[in-house]
Amino acid sequence: MAFYFDEPSRTFNEYLLVPGYSSSECIPSKVSLKAALSKHRKGAEPELSLNIPLVSAIMQSVSDDGMAIALATEGGLSFIFGSQPLEQQAAMVARVKNYKAGFVDSDANLSPDMTLAEVLELKERLGHSTMPVTEDGSANGKLLGIVTSRDYRITRTAASERVADFMTPREKMVAAPLETSLKVANDIIWDNKLNSVPIVDGDDHLVHMVFRKDYDSHKSNPLEMLDSQKRYMVGAGINTRDYAERVPALVEAGADLLCIDSSEGHSAWQEQTLGWIRAQFGEGVKVGAGNVVDAEGFRFLAEAGADFVKVGIGGGSICITREQKGIGRGQATALIEVAQARNAYFKETGVYVPLCSDGGIVYDHHMTLALAMGADFLMLGRYFARFDESPTNKVNINGSYMKEYWGEGSARARNWQRYDLGGEKTGLTFEEGVDSYVPYAGSLKDNVALTLAKMRSTMCNCGALTIPELQAKAKLTTVSSTSIVEGGAHDVLLKDKTPYVGSSIGLR
Ligand code: IMP
Repeated sequence: MAFYFDEPSRTFNEYLLVPGYSSSECIPSKVSLKAALSKHRKGAEPELSLNIPLVSAIMQSVSDDGMAIALATEGGLSFIFGSQPLEQQAAMVARVKNYKAGFVDSDANLSPDMTLAEVLELKERLGHSTMPVTEDGSANGKLLGIVTSRDYRITRTAASERVADFMTPREKMVAAPLETSLKVANDIIWDNKLNSVPIVDGDDHLVHMVFRKDYDSHKSNPLEMLDSQKRYMVGAGINTRDYAERVPALVEAGADLLCIDSSEGHSAWQEQTLGWIRAQFGEGVKVGAGNVVDAEGFRFLAEAGADFVKVGIGGGSICITREQKGIGRGQATALIEVAQARNAYFKETGVYVPLCSDGGIVYDHHMTLALAMGADFLMLGRYFARFDESPTNKVNINGSYMKEYWGEGSARARNWQRYDLGGEKTGLTFEEGVDSYVPYAGSLKDNVALTLAKMRSTMCNCGALTIPELQAKAKLTTVSSTSIVEGGAHDVLLKDKTPYVGSSIGLR
């Protein structure tokens, strides 16, 4: 006889938070969004924590090195997608780890034989007015000089004049050696009243540029996710097939955390993968596993050694797993049951295993609901796909800008198998995801700031200044279908039917 769950499968939309007492201490500026990222013993601090509870999905259309740098700057973490050759994935991880905030590779470079007309064309195309001049015109050639808008006057300098004749030559320039720290580079900029300083190697070849404005923005990111060597932190997805080659390559490249990327985690393949990692690296390599949607699945992965457990099957915006295979569970119900199992496991063993709620977040307030239900952090695909920093094309569809967003189980991503249990590839395959567009939403920084402002405000309404406090204090109610109607603007004629300011996630 089959087992029947008592509760129907519910989604975030079916819940609301009921406010609790907020003391005068409870103000958004005092809220900490720090979130546990790896398992830890009672009373101990987790080895890895997030500064904001957001991670970007292990997807081709979401998490490359550009996204990872942008999100780590804000205090979250990306998991670089694993559905690519391991050398490429490791190179993405290495690019994040080698990225020196404030030190940029110069993308507008001149050779001494170029003309002012070409300089102006490059300035127009790239939008930069500071251009180093190198012997061969490359970003790492021997430094010969620099051109800024102070070196020419369009009304007086002939368009045909050569760069060599109007640039500021190397001997009159200030440059700094490779080992210069960002702070020292900034002091050089200020002391010499410059806008930028080139960083050169021992042979006077250009390596990086440091710009005054980049230093300022670096200073204004207090939540940056940095490792002990002040490098950005980054995660990476792995699979249950080629882990013996992929995991060492990712660890070597500097990945701070791994996650087995699969739509179904309650499997012998995941147990084997976790076992192999523990045997090779002990507890030194942190690895999450999933996805599961019930207590049994959670316990299985916790006992198999997962550092965090990912929850959610079939709730993703691009996901058609439930339609195709009839498996899955409403995200809210799955999370609530798994969180109960996690808490019971903690009581029993003294080991706290963080939970990641993965997929199905539609509105900003769903994020706070998920945290209240017991998630420690959230994995988001669609949310991040909409931003400038996602790796996909921005396209204009009928006058509106969109970004492309496709599932890892779609035909487009499909040559890499995530959507079976593991082991040998067998049988026919079918799609479990779609290829789609999402409304373009601008920069990650602006959107994340707005989302987190709402989260902090709701937490204060619940009397909570931290995520564990929210989990302990939250009061949740299910809603009837008529109260959902009551919750939106209703019985008025909207003057503006476009999404209102504040509905940062999208269309209502
Ligand atoms: P979203 O934030 O609702 O867009 O969901 C993102 C999540 O959907 C990912 O983190 C994956 O767990 C899941 N996912 C990604 N690609 C697919 C797919 O093709 N089919 C089903 N689920 C997917």
